[in-house]
This record gives sequence, structure tokens and C-alpha cells, in this order.
Amino acid sequence: MISLKSDREIELMKHAGHINYLTHQEVKKHLRVGITTGELNDIADKFIRNNECTPSFLNYEGYPKSICISINDEVVHGIPGNRKIKNGDVVSIDIGVCYKGYHSDSANTYIVGSTSKDVEDLVENTRKSLYIGLDAIKEGAKISDIGRNIEDYAMKCNLSVVRELVGHGVGTSVHEDPDVPNYYTKSPVILKAGMVLAVEPMLNLGERYIYMLDDDWTIKTDDEKPSAHFEHTVLVTKDGYEILTGE
Ligand code: MF3
Ligand code: CO
Repeated sequence: MISLKSDREIELMKHAGHINYLTHQEVKKHLRVGITTGELNDIADKFIRNNECTPSFLNYEGYPKSICISINDEVVHGIPGNRKIKNGDVVSIDIGVCYKGYHSDSANTYIVGSTSKDVEDLVENTRKSLYIGLDAIKEGAKISDIGRNIEDYAMKCNLSVVRELVGHGVGTSVHEDPDVPNYYTKSPVILKAGMVLAVEPMLNLGERYIYMLDDDWTIKTDDEKPSAHFEHTVLVTKDGYEILTGE
């Protein structure tokens, strides 16, 4: 079932989205060579709670930490711990924030220090693919138009699209209907004003294939090449969309 949010629900989700954005800023401020992913997790957790919100991911289906940090060939759902950030790391930070029962979900990928042109382009083009996907959104558009835009752009950039994980509706759960694939499918879903979606392209420098680590969470690329991930929670409107997790 795809829920349409009331004006009151939209206000709560805008606030959850705003705190999500501010948490990303706070984590970014501390992201540097030598800091551990566990320390970044704790900074985010504290910031979220100081703002009368809770971290959506903690205990979600047993997930043990408050945010996800996925480095280099880790695609998504990396668990923060003792790992230290190194020069040239591609670091994806994924944050969920809950305010009065309503969630927001957003991810950014950063390069710490310096890396190759290939990897810089991977990150920049994955960021662009998110906005190109969002461009398809307005009342009456097909959900499949989002994925078509992302896939077309990824192909132009010679990047591959992860298919096993998709975007999703957001509301009183982090993951709601509908699925929002990052590739073209024949989804019959038509967008309506009041839907809230998380759009989240995961693009790989090498092949699209992935596997899950023994920790049952971390997703990695088969060929060990880097992956990037960007995500916004957006509200569908009559003539477009509004980003809830942006500036
Ligand atoms: N943004 C992530 C996703 O949509 C949320 C992961 S929830 C977690 O897949 F608990 F698994 F971390
Ligand atoms: Co998500």
C-alpha cells in the first residue's frame, strides 16, 4: 500500500529531513584521515538525539549502529566500528532520522584526501544521477521514469547500476511501498502528490555484481572496485518534487 501524507505528516517529515541534513553536515565536519567509523557514528547519534529525534537505523531489523558507513568497495550498510579513515577513501554516509514517528533517509559519498580521476568521476556522476532521477518526479509521472533516467545517465558515464537494492517509500517506517528501482522496469506505479520517496542510486566503477559479508549487513562489489551512493527523501508535488533532506 502506498501512503499519501497529510499536511501534518508532511510537516513532521520536513523536520525529520532537516535534522537529517544537519546531521550530515555535522558528520562531514569531522570526516578526516584517522577518525574511526565508530567515532563518526557516535557523533551522528549524539547530534540526532540532541535534536529530539532518534536514529532510524539503530535496531532496524537488528542493525547494530545508528548510521551506515560504507568505504570503497563497500556499496551500502557498512557497520561503523574501529576502522580508521585513510587518505583516498570513498566514504558513503547513510543516515536515517525519526521525528515523532516519521522518518527521513539520506546518503552522501565523500572522497577523503585525494584519489584518481576515475574515482572522482564515479562520485560526481553518482551524485548527478540522483538529481537526474529526481527530475522525472511529478504527479502523473511513472515511477519507472526515475530509474530510466538514472540508468541512462549511468550508462553514458560507463558506470554500472546495482540492481539488488532499490529506493523506497518513506513514512512511519523507513522502508515503505513503493520500490524505486535505479534501472528501468515495468512498474505500473504512477506518482501522486503527497507520496514521499527515498531515491538512492548506487553506482559502481566496475561491474554491477555484489555480495554480502559474513556480518549479514555489509554489501560489497564482487570485483572490489569502488561504489558510490547518494540518497534524498523527497515529497512528490503537483508539478515536481521537494527535497526534504536538503539544505
Ligand atoms: N538507507 C538505507 C536503505 O534504504 C537504510 C538502511 S537501514 C539499516 O537501505 F538499518 F539497514 F541500516
Ligand atoms: Co534508503
